[in-house]
Amino acid sequence: MRRSFDELMAEALAAPVVGWDFSWLDGRATEQRPSWGYQRQLGARLATVSAALDIYTGGGEVLDGVPSFPPTMAATESWPPNAALATRRLGPRGVVVIRTRDEPPLPFAAEAFDLVTSRHPITVWWSEIARMLRPGGTYFAQHPGPATVCELVESVMGPHPELGAHLQPAVQRADAQAAGLQIVDLRMEKLRAEFFDIGAVVYFLRKLIWTVPDFTVEPYYGRLRALHDIIEADGRFVTHPTRVLVEARKPG
Ligand SMILES: C[S@@+](CC[C@H](N)C(=O)[O-])C[C@H]1O[C@@H](n2cnc3c(N)ncnc32)[C@H](O)[C@@H]1O
Repeated sequence: MRRSFDELMAEALAAPVVGWDFSWLDGRATEQRPSWGYQRQLGARLATVSAALDIYTGGGEVLDGVPSFPPTMAATESWPPNAALATRRLGPRGVVVIRTRDEPPLPFAAEAFDLVTSRHPITVWWSEIARMLRPGGTYFAQHPGPATVCELVESVMGPHPELGAHLQPAVQRADAQAAGLQIVDLRMEKLRAEFFDIGAVVYFLRKLIWTVPDFTVEPYYGRLRALHDIIEADGRFVTHPTRVLVEARKPG
């Protein structure tokens, strides 16, 4: 039997959102992954360096999926619940997790790392990344792209023409180069995500707090109800995440 809007909302608002595990959405939403296989490539790169840093590690889930770490492996996380989670998950594997502020400077000396990585950073601190890399070192990351999940954002917030313009590949390339890095690879893919009930949408918006900034239900109640009706009628709501793969090198 179909559950009502109010039931779905109450359940989604009560669900814990700590960590970076999305299994709560199993059967209720899907998200296509980029073809380049970020985690596999991350593992291959970590196997060839002696000192690496993962920025915005979240609950450490992605890093924990690689088979081996270099002799020096550090990770930073600014949100306290995730810093604790990442420490519990990665500490036993020898990774030092450091809780930092959400802005530079990060607590590392210049030229400390051969490899700096990040998946879905909230902000890319290009100059700080360049500072921490040894000459010849690499930044390898998967960033959000422009207009990511724009159909979802606009259905909740209304028209948003400039959504994520600073994440355009050309802008990311220019920002990296301005920090003194050379682009080795920079690619974007537009993917597909589907939501099968309004509870899944609300859970997603609570977990990815930057999608609709300062998201709470009250200001968007009418639009969420309308979205619920669309999902009931169509069976799903389709939106498109965009992702940018970045590999950049510090000249050396
Ligand atoms: C999009 S997450 C990516 C985490 C990880 N790199 C990954 O790909 O799984 C980026 C950052 O957002 C932080 N974050 C998640 N939920 C948050 C919240 N409710 N408040 C503040 N920061 C949050 C995470 O802890 C993480 O540092």
